[in-house]
Amino acid sequence: MELKMASMKVALIAVFALFVTARADYVRPKTRKVLDWPWKSRESSGPHQVHISLAGDKHMRISWINEDGSSPSLVEYGTTPGVYTSSSHGESTSYKYLFYRSGKIHHTVIGPLEDNTVYFYRCGRQGPEFRMKTPPSQFPITFAVAGDLGQTGWTASTLDHIDQCKYDMHLLPGDLSYADYLQRRWDSFGELVQPLASSRPWMVTEGNHEEESIPLLKDGFESYNARWKMPFEESGSSSNLYYSFDVAGVHVLMLGSYADHDEYSDQYRWLKDDLAKVDRKRTPWVLALFHVPWYNSNKAHQGEGKSMMASMEPLLYAAGVDIVLTGHVHAYERSNRVNNGKSDPCGPVHITIGDGGNQEGLAHRYIDPKPEWSMFREASFGHGELKIANSTHAFWSWHRNDDDEPVKSDEVWITSLISSGCINEKKHDLRKILMAP
Ligand SMILES: [Fe+2]
Repeated sequence: MELKMASMKVALIAVFALFVTARADYVRPKTRKVLDWPWKSRESSGPHQVHISLAGDKHMRISWINEDGSSPSLVEYGTTPGVYTSSSHGESTSYKYLFYRSGKIHHTVIGPLEDNTVYFYRCGRQGPEFRMKTPPSQFPITFAVAGDLGQTGWTASTLDHIDQCKYDMHLLPGDLSYADYLQRRWDSFGELVQPLASSRPWMVTEGNHEEESIPLLKDGFESYNARWKMPFEESGSSSNLYYSFDVAGVHVLMLGSYADHDEYSDQYRWLKDDLAKVDRKRTPWVLALFHVPWYNSNKAHQGEGKSMMASMEPLLYAAGVDIVLTGHVHAYERSNRVNNGKSDPCGPVHITIGDGGNQEGLAHRYIDPKPEWSMFREASFGHGELKIANSTHAFWSWHRNDDDEPVKSDEVWITSLISSGCINEKKHDLRKILMAP
């Protein structure tokens, strides 16, 4: 009997050891191919590439494309399938890019909408019917975060993992389609993300892969701006490349790494005004997203965020921004609270999450030794989830794409700056920078 028990123990230990060894031997997967997504012009006038985004308090912008020039920019909606009790008319645009001509791109704002409510809607008086959920007006709220998506097998895997989590809004810190001048790839990206982006708001800001300028012929962000219109007008910004919004007690800044950002720039002036207006009683948390990281110990893209950091870090610090989310580097890294290059309990936590799954592959090489502010770093594809539980606590987790499974690899509770006393201490001194003319 004793012998039998002993042999069972050995077997159990062996199984455990095998499991541990398997984890330790985890080999990061290779880049997957760009999805074969042959896009051809549709003969039908039906809506496609449908996506939604917040457009001011209790309003949502519905964006879609169709090939029929006479189709109206009309959205009908209601809380019961097939019963449309309200409707709104919007605007449409289109653009030409060398030999490419886009479909008719519609943007229609609907509302006022109830919070945390499922709505059914259709676009251009045609089917199919889409379903979306509006965000809550109070905590808790959960954000899904993934940058540098592209359209590869890994992108599909990341989107599938995000779809499995319960979240209210997708935040994307730049590099969407990797169209890189091939306009049809904007269309295929729109099709790829439609199932998710038509059901939860996708709030995006631009990366370098959105810039498609041709000297003397084309402005840099024409395709991106035409397709992914964000609520910049609603937030007093003059450019789709930077804006802000409030949701459920969170003020979110969507900044532009590829828009002018020195202290004489329009973006800087707008950011200063925007931060001066933040009311921490109404929005206890402040987040900032932009593409190029300021705190990055990966060898890829070293120093690229320097000029933006020099001008804007003092503003974010003075305003008490809690968390900064960036992309660009195709890996994951989370910092301690930092400011001015070193750990600081009153600075933001910086998270680089540019590992959505694009075709360029992962950035494997890191600077050693690890800087004191770097808490966790790994080159794998994946996505993040930020659940803001209440005015003082948020739970951040990073989910690595381990083969085709989402595996939680990093997690941390983050307490808000408002609860740590940092905001009060900064009030009289640092906030002067936000109030200066
Ligand atoms: Fe990038």
